Amino acid sequence: MSDVYLNGEILPLEKAQVSVLDRGFLFGDGVYEVIPVFHGYPLRLEEHLERLSASLTAIHLPVEITVLEWHAIFDQLLSRNAGQHQALYIQISRGSYASRQHGFPAETRPTVFVMTMPLAPRITGSLDDVKGGTAITAPDQRWQRCDIKSTSLLGNVMHHQLALNSGATEAILVDAEGRVTEGSSSNVFIVRDETIITPPRSHKILSGITRALVLELAVNDGAYRCEERDVSVDELKNADEIWVTSSSKEMLPIIELNGIQVGKGEPGSVWRHVAGLYQTYKAG
Ligand code: PDD
Repeated sequence: MSDVYLNGEILPLEKAQVSVLDRGFLFGDGVYEVIPVFHGYPLRLEEHLERLSASLTAIHLPVEITVLEWHAIFDQLLSRNAGQHQALYIQISRGSYASRQHGFPAETRPTVFVMTMPLAPRITGSLDDVKGGTAITAPDQRWQRCDIKSTSLLGNVMHHQLALNSGATEAILVDAEGRVTEGSSSNVFIVRDETIITPPRSHKILSGITRALVLELAVNDGAYRCEERDVSVDELKNADEIWVTSSSKEMLPIIELNGIQVGKGEPGSVWRHVAGLYQTYKAG
C-alpha cells in the first residue's frame, strides 16, 4: 500500500481519512493537479505549481505552502513509492467545518492531499508502437470557468463516459457556436495543410501544461506553422490529423472521429515529427 500526504503528515493510504463534511466532498469545492513523473523526474513541475497557485487564487483559497515545501513533499512520496513512471496527484479543498453552508467559512482550514499514481506513458520506445486513439464529438455542457482546474468534474466525467460508452478513447467538446473547446480530460490539436492549430487559451479550456509544451516545441523547431485560434467542428472533421494532449495521454493521435477515419487512419507525419521532439525533451 502506498504512502500519501495529508495535512502535514505522510501516512499509509488506508490511514488517510477526510471528514464527510469536507467541502471537497459536499460541494466539489477544491482544485487539483496531475504532474507526470517519468523515470523519477517530474515534467514541467514549476508550470504545474504555477497553475495550481492560479487555480487557488481563482477560487479565493489561500494556502501557505511554499515551492520548497511542495518539493519536499513530492521527494518524500516519490522515494517511498517506487515506480518507473508515476503521476503526482495534488488535491486541495476548502476543508471541513461544523455544518454545510454554501458561503466560504470565515476562517479557512484547507484539506491538502497528495498521492502518487502509476502512470502508463503512451510514448515509450519507438513511435511506431504508439497506437492511435478514437474520439467522438459532443456538445460541451460544462461551466464557464474551465480554466480553473477544479475538482468539480461532473461535466468532464459525463462527457468522458459518453466516449467510453461509444467505444471511444476521448470526447472532443464543441461549444454552442460550433467551436472546438477541448477534450473531456485533454486539449485538442488539429493539422490542416501542414499547419498545427489549437484553440486559444480562454475560460473555455484548461490551459494544459502538455499543450503549452507541445506548442513551444513545435514553434521553436519551426518545421510547421503553428496557430492558436478557434477551430470549427467542420475543420475538426476535415482535419488531416487530430491529436489530444494531457499529462497522462501525452500526445495521442486520434485516428478515428465519430467512426470515420482521420487522414489515413494512422498516426500522421506531423504528429510523428512533433512527438519525436516531445520524446527528446522528455528524455532530458
Ligand atoms: N487532465 N483539459 C482538461 C479538461 C483536463 O482535465 C486536462 C488534464 C487537460 C490537459 O492538461 P495537462 O496537459 O496539464 O495535463 C486539458 C488531467 C490529466 C486529469 O484530470 O487527470
